[in-house]
Amino acid sequence: MCRFQLIWTHLCELLVSVSSSSPTTREKEFSVFSTFSYAMSIRSQAMCGSADREVLDDTTLGEIRVTMLSEKVTSNSHGQDSSYFLGWEEYEKNPYDEIKNPNGIIQMGLAENQLSFDLLESWLAQNAEPAALKKDGISIFKELALFQDYHGLPSFKNALVQFMSEIRGNKVTFDSNKLVLTAGATSANETLMFCLADPGDAFLLPTPYYPGFDRDLKWRTGAKIVPIQCWSSNGFRITESAIEDAYDEARRKNLRVKGVLVTNPSNPLGTTLTRQELNLLIRFIDAKGIHLISDEIYSGTVFDSPGFVSVMEVLTERNYVNSDVWDRVHIVYSLSKDLGLPGFRVGAIYSNDELVVSAATKMSSFGLVSSQTQYLLSALLSDKKFTKKYVAKNQKRLKKRHDMLVKGLRDAGIKCLESNASLFCWVDMRHLLSSNTLQAEIELWKKIVYQVGLNISPGSSCHCTEPGWFRICFANMAEDTLKLAMRRVKMFIDSTVADNASDHSPKHYLSKNAKRKGFTKWVFRLSFNDRQRER
Ligand SMILES: Cc1ncc(COP(=O)(O)O)c(C=O)c1O
Repeated sequence: MCRFQLIWTHLCELLVSVSSSSPTTREKEFSVFSTFSYAMSIRSQAMCGSADREVLDDTTLGEIRVTMLSEKVTSNSHGQDSSYFLGWEEYEKNPYDEIKNPNGIIQMGLAENQLSFDLLESWLAQNAEPAALKKDGISIFKELALFQDYHGLPSFKNALVQFMSEIRGNKVTFDSNKLVLTAGATSANETLMFCLADPGDAFLLPTPYYPGFDRDLKWRTGAKIVPIQCWSSNGFRITESAIEDAYDEARRKNLRVKGVLVTNPSNPLGTTLTRQELNLLIRFIDAKGIHLISDEIYSGTVFDSPGFVSVMEVLTERNYVNSDVWDRVHIVYSLSKDLGLPGFRVGAIYSNDELVVSAATKMSSFGLVSSQTQYLLSALLSDKKFTKKYVAKNQKRLKKRHDMLVKGLRDAGIKCLESNASLFCWVDMRHLLSSNTLQAEIELWKKIVYQVGLNISPGSSCHCTEPGWFRICFANMAEDTLKLAMRRVKMFIDSTVADNASDHSPKHYLSKNAKRKGFTKWVFRLSFNDRQRER
């Protein structure tokens, strides 16, 4: 096939996809237009006798490349341009360091748990064999290097399900045959979407929700998210009317609702679901005949009462075992938060539905957990004495940090939603907004990033529709850094109050070099993209 024919065929395919899709996307229209122009230019060259032999300049090559790439690649539906990720980019350009960059931005937008590495490291020091890939003094390097069964190492899966039970106070037991290993919860959530939803099908998610879900659930799968609107007036709890409204909204948009996805404990609220909410969710998915995904990635971080109740516990108590509903409830887990190991990429799907387990296992070939990681962690998690001590100490440390953040903010006149879990607080800064709008929220956020030097996550990046809420992380830094962050907040609030009494000119709480050169460009990008994409 000559290049003209190739491009022409591509154009015909595009036209078919445009005519069959509703509503037509701008990217598709652009793609059709540019492919058509390019095809015509080649055709005219062919008529002049130079077809397919001309030397293409860089611009033309760039255009062809864009035209010939998939829509997924050329559209911006991955969600990476939200303020959540842009804040990280700003932090990367000017990261705080006690010695080298004391005026830098402190990263408080990253839900990382760095509080208990000493415990993991001392276990490693006392248990050198698994890290050295040895068993009873003999190297098993070759065995592990060759291992490629996508069902995973049985010893690791057994240790992981027992750890999951332990975190739930051994009130529920898990069967390792129903567990699928994945490269983190990111992969687990996406895999579940591939198993449960066709492109265009919808999942209902309570707001505010983890910004990464826009990428993890929708980008590659084509699934949609319809928000269940929750409000501060009842502490962002899920209510029957909110969930029914979301369902009706999806139906109005002609979307087939395949399920509900919740995070328990919640990211970004830091709260656990109540039994009442869990019962409501179970009743709802039962009545509608749909799925429930419970992302329990923070289940081991619950540091205060009321304790963590897993949906599996409620299903067992209420005699749903082996029912239809039992098969439609799926749990997502990961060691990224509870053990603080996001770099190891260890996640899991737990499902009672054999078909889901079998399909997800096959799909897991695209994101397996390496065998040496499985080997090392099977030894660590099988050490029950260690895991018990680790979980208890880690939760105690998280509580201490949480309390420090809450107190530091309270001293500055800022309140947090009462929370009992996770690595962050959901912070109420509504009184600091210049108006009750999402634009004012982004304005305040920019001040906090550039003038106060803290990267935190605005509520709008978590799809919170009430302006003025922010997520602030407390477990990814040294205690002294958290104290410094609190001092910066206090200074900011005190001088804002003083400014209001005098003039309104912008102030800086850092030295001048903390102001960034690319500020204008970045702000333009942000205000243009933020909250506009997924209407
Ligand atoms: C609720 C939730 N699910 C999934 C993830 C992704 O976790 P992982 O690092 O295991 O892929 C995160 C990470 O922040 C999260 O908060």
